[in-house]
Amino acid sequence: MSDPLVEAALAARARSYAPYSRFAVGAALRTEDGALHAGCNVENAAYPEGTCAEAGAIAAMVMAATTPGGRRIAELVVAGGGAMPCTPCGGCRQKIREFAAPATPIRMVDGAGRELLRLTLAELLPHSFGPDHLAEG
Ligand code: THU
Repeated sequence: MSDPLVEAALAARARSYAPYSRFAVGAALRTEDGALHAGCNVENAAYPEGTCAEAGAIAAMVMAATTPGGRRIAELVVAGGGAMPCTPCGGCRQKIREFAAPATPIRMVDGAGRELLRLTLAELLPHSFGPDHLAEG
């Protein structure tokens, strides 16, 4: 059975611009409002300027949001290649944290859409720092 979020992540991965690493990644998220947003990694000749697929999906979400739920991540899928699950990098875990709850599921799939690993945000980023900390300062 096809899963729209997995399909969106795979379609985004097909748009990846990764001429340096040759490691194509796609990410797709569903908001609490039910909207889907996707992104791919976009590399750069100045290597550190490259951006991750998750960052692209989050930017698309924020741009499209017209309600608070429109920028809350209910679920996120990362599609990489190979047999190792493409887990979000440390920076992306923090970016996801800004817009997701600890229990938010994050699924890693391979280039064919097969699920390799499913974790919560809290499992990926335990004891995280977030907007609620700033409110206590
Ligand atoms: N990358 C992502 O886009 N998302 C991840 O979850 C891990 C890594 C990208 C960054 C870079 O373009 C390439 O994969 C190799 O690190």
